[in-house]
Amino acid sequence: MPEPANKPPSSTTLRPATEDDLPILASLHRLAFFTALPQMPVLHTPEEDLEHYRHRLFPHSVIWLAEQDHQVVGLLVLRAGWVEQLHVHPDRQRRGIGSRLLNLAKEQCEAPELRLWTFQTNAQAQRFYEKHGFQIERKTDGSDNEEKQPDVLYVWTRPVQGRVLGNTSRRLSFADNCPSGCRRHSGALDAKGVIHTSPGSGEARAATLGTWSGGRELRSEFYKPRPHP
Ligand SMILES: CC(C)(COP(=O)(O)OP(=O)(O)OC[C@H]1O[C@@H](n2cnc3c(N)ncnc32)[C@H](O)[C@@H]1OP(=O)(O)O)[C@@H](O)C(=O)NCCC(=O)NCCS
Repeated sequence: MPEPANKPPSSTTLRPATEDDLPILASLHRLAFFTALPQMPVLHTPEEDLEHYRHRLFPHSVIWLAEQDHQVVGLLVLRAGWVEQLHVHPDRQRRGIGSRLLNLAKEQCEAPELRLWTFQTNAQAQRFYEKHGFQIERKTDGSDNEEKQPDVLYVWTRPVQGRVLGNTSRRLSFADNCPSGCRRHSGALDAKGVIHTSPGSGEARAATLGTWSGGRELRSEFYKPRPHP
């Protein structure tokens, strides 16, 4: 799959995978994973990998693929607020394909947060996710994963953007530009202008939304949900 040096960069198209794509996706996943992490234990055969895609991933998640010149060069598996898999062919990495797929995951995600696991030894993937705004939520010793290798849970939180509907010195009401539809919220403003929503204001959980500095537009640089008490 290497491209000749004099060939201009191919354009990349993204599309949902069909059942016919599964064999190539399962083998691309295996190739990208073991090229990046050759020290990982090999727990499954290629046939088992395909079964996993056919019976576990395809029916229960949304799978996208990236194509260049009609060749599959990347894949993304999404399920309810989780990036389950993200892999780019080793010969096509560092050309922006992974970023296209990860941005698609953010666009498709209706939840305010998107999570994923990666192995602690996968320094390249960690740098990539951190560059895309993911933050470490938790590290584990690996005892709960199949490979028994230390891993790390990353979370990305959607910045809030919206329209300010009204404000007093203490409270702000606003409508967000959530991709699943505009919703109304209200939040308490603290002395520094930080907006805190509370349960019942349209948020599933209390959250710190960012700092409001006046004006009709709300552009929050962070969204930090707090767990239910
Ligand atoms: C992690 C992974 C998905 C990233 O995919 P990718 O297509 O290489 O991602 P991008 O090209 O968008 O970005 C990767 C890097 O290339 C750089 N890059 C992007 N386009 C570039 C270009 N045209 N020229 C040079 N560098 C470029 C990016 O800035 C980024 O830099 P970083 O190393 O500081 O993060 C890919 O490396 C991969 O499949 N790895 C193996 C499998 C794996 O680990 N999957 C994740 C498991 S959780």
